[in-house]
Amino acid sequence: MVPKGHSCVKITLMNSFTVFLIIVNSVRCANILGVFISPLFIHQIIYHSLCRELSLRGHQETVITPFPFDDPTLTNLTEISIEFVHEIMKRRNTSTYFSKDFGIWQTSHDIFDSIDSIAETILNSTKLQELIDDPNRKFDLIVMELLHPVLFGFAARFGAPSIGISTGPLFSYNIAFFLWCKFYYQWVFLPRGHGMATKYFGKVPYVGDLEKNLSLYFTGVNSIIPSQEPRTSAIVEIGAIHIQPPKPLPEDLQKILDEASAGFVYVNLGSNNIDQKLRTIITEVLRELPYTVLWKWESDRLPGKPSNVVIRNWVPQQDVLAHCNIKAFVTQGNIQAVQEAISREVPLIGIPFINDQVFTVQKIVDLGIAERVDPATTTKSELKGVIIHVVETQRYRDRIKEVRSIMFDKPMSGLETVIWWSEYVMRHKDIKHLTSPVFESSWDSYFNDVVAPFLDVELQKPLIIPFDLFPEEGVLLARPFRAGLKTTHLVQLQVQPPPPYLAR
Ligand SMILES: *[C@@H]1O[C@H](CO)[C@@H](O)[C@H](O)[C@H]1NC(C)=O
Ligand SMILES: *[C@@H]1O[C@H](CO)[C@@H](O)[C@H](O)[C@H]1NC(C)=O
Ligand SMILES: *[C@@H]1O[C@H](CO)[C@@H](O)[C@H](O)[C@H]1NC(C)=O
Ligand SMILES: *[C@@H]1O[C@H](CO)[C@@H](O)[C@H](O)[C@H]1NC(C)=O
Repeated sequence: MVPKGHSCVKITLMNSFTVFLIIVNSVRCANILGVFISPLFIHQIIYHSLCRELSLRGHQETVITPFPFDDPTLTNLTEISIEFVHEIMKRRNTSTYFSKDFGIWQTSHDIFDSIDSIAETILNSTKLQELIDDPNRKFDLIVMELLHPVLFGFAARFGAPSIGISTGPLFSYNIAFFLWCKFYYQWVFLPRGHGMATKYFGKVPYVGDLEKNLSLYFTGVNSIIPSQEPRTSAIVEIGAIHIQPPKPLPEDLQKILDEASAGFVYVNLGSNNIDQKLRTIITEVLRELPYTVLWKWESDRLPGKPSNVVIRNWVPQQDVLAHCNIKAFVTQGNIQAVQEAISREVPLIGIPFINDQVFTVQKIVDLGIAERVDPATTTKSELKGVIIHVVETQRYRDRIKEVRSIMFDKPMSGLETVIWWSEYVMRHKDIKHLTSPVFESSWDSYFNDVVAPFLDVELQKPLIIPFDLFPEEGVLLARPFRAGLKTTHLVQLQVQPPPPYLAR
């Protein structure tokens, strides 16, 4: 038990910016445009860190975001709020996004359609029209979320080099779905995106060509949770850039966690995941735990809430994970959350719901810092046993210390990497030397290089992975191609036997 206040912090993050000496200073006070339109906060948390640091570095930033900072100390950062995109998502029926009951056509169609609608609404807004039409606006760099190809219109409009960013993995294990979406993207989505670009930006080169002109690609995936993703020189890993030094907790939460004399377990399983059966199991298990439980729960009410369970619909997660009484973190296996847990040395219990979570959770189990529970089949006694085992076994805590020290042992921190590469692009403008020749390949050679070998491999082996993946992957599908990866990479990935956890 900790007597008072926020002295109870396990790990302080050394801010390596204090020792960040950069020799090349030629890019100072550049004008940077950030375009981040995704209405999911889980993605925006990475973009926020990136924008904050670039502005603190002295660059003038204009950021289009649905989650404004509203931080007056960031004097070099101007925000164009597009909070109205949240309304679009509320109005849409998103039931097909997350359910396996809908076919691949329906799912991909609905998701691409939502993204279209978001992009159109944003570009049609007065604020964005003013930005696009302002003849005095100049940008030296555009950093954009890779969500909709129409956004490449900004690069054309301002004649600036561009960097793409995304937070999740590059690959889906489901290569069939992957290729399906590649086709959809190429033949349906890109042409539609080009039509939209012409409407809002005027005459621009084909957005598919603008996309190939992307200078770099930042990925939020950190190699400590090793994916078997191949990389080209144009793919830069920025890792856990969203992790901040611990801050004081809100007073009431601080008090509850300080008083958790037997320790506490933190539960966050996302918002769309839990059906009633699973909720009942989890609630009953939490009731029987000899610890306090903090559960990030989206609603104010939890039927049958046990007395040792505290629910909050908003939790300062990184700061809770830094509290010294924490014993374990029950997570669905989102990459950013896992990175936060590693940085605070908190062992995990993974309950993954969708494909990339399954993958991430298996990786942390292999690393020896977590145990996995299958949400579809778990029972009360299993879940309870696993949580208690992870809390009571020292091995997980020892191992996560080692993993953490590897994760942060890098020549440059994630933020230094972001700044260095952003300025690199601005210094040299043309960095085609990093680009893979695959960018230049025609559709024919794409077929010969990608599709044919894929079919070849696919026909020779019994690897069929069911279509149980997060449909968002469909949207992000074109990623490896944008980043200039080659078929052989895909094929390599594909000929490996499927990990046992995917062969359900
Ligand atoms: C804003 O940028 C200037 C240089 O352009 C820099 O000197 C100043 O420290 C920056 N301010 C903040 C709060 O980042
Ligand atoms: C959402 O769409 C699905 C599939 O088209 C349909 O079954 C469901 O009834 C819809 N829900 C609402 C609230 O409109
Ligand atoms: C664009 O905005 C105008 C009003 O500002 C509205 O009349 C029009 O319907 C909008 N178009 C689209 C495609 O949203
Ligand atoms: C590609 O980007 C460079 C700047 O990075 C620019 O000079 C060139 O015009 C762009 N090409 C196309 C087709 O947009």
